[in-house]
Amino acid sequence: MFWFWFNGEAAPKLALREVSFRKIFNYLDTVDASQPLVIVETGCLRTPDNWAGDGQSTLMFDRYLQDRSAGGICYAMDIDPVATAACRSLVGPRTEVLTGDSVIVLRDVAERLRASRQKISLLYLDSFDLDWNNVTPSAVHHLKELVSIYEFVTPQTLVVVDDAPVHAVCSTNAEGSLVLLGEPVVNGKGKFVAEYAAQVGAKRFFSHYQCAWIGFR
Ligand SMILES: C[S@@+](CC[C@H](N)C(=O)[O-])C[C@H]1O[C@@H](n2cnc3c(N)ncnc32)[C@H](O)[C@@H]1O
Repeated sequence: MFWFWFNGEAAPKLALREVSFRKIFNYLDTVDASQPLVIVETGCLRTPDNWAGDGQSTLMFDRYLQDRSAGGICYAMDIDPVATAACRSLVGPRTEVLTGDSVIVLRDVAERLRASRQKISLLYLDSFDLDWNNVTPSAVHHLKELVSIYEFVTPQTLVVVDDAPVHAVCSTNAEGSLVLLGEPVVNGKGKFVAEYAAQVGAKRFFSHYQCAWIGFR
């Protein structure tokens, strides 16, 4: 049912993010089906139907959970009450939409996970909007988000950062073709999460417009 909806309705509109959302849901399909799934998302759906621009992540996570026989929960959060109200109107009871700064709200979510003895299967980070001319404030914020909830990340948790394509330094050769001057590195919202991932030996799961890792712990 989910995949029928994803392939027919969502995928054709997802543009750059289609390939990575497909990999995210394929990964969730491999998680023990007898256990409730926990998805934690920062930066919720804010504009209905803005598929190519934002991604409609909360709607897709909610649809995925609705289909799961063992159930599960998505904690989605946003600092903008207009965004959380819009999001709430589009999702079902398996998604809890919380309002506030994600670095703080994630600590509340951590308390709930501690009480219910649950860990996270998917951590999806997509808050603090990016300025491509100065990625640092947003990239730092996303690293802080990871810190706030790190205790509930397991070796199997898929950590995804949106708006995190690779950047490369290039030059042009005599024919005018681009020549790479070094390894492309993850930039955007994921710049510092990627640096941390490399330092602790997390495994890059995919790198498209979104970037993902497993094995953070
Ligand atoms: C790109 S949008 C999220 C899009 C959504 N994930 C989707 O796929 O449709 C980014 C959101 O992050 C929110 N945001 C910005 N700063 C934030 C913060 N410090 N804490 C929580 N949310 C924040 C914005 O209000 C905005 O709604």
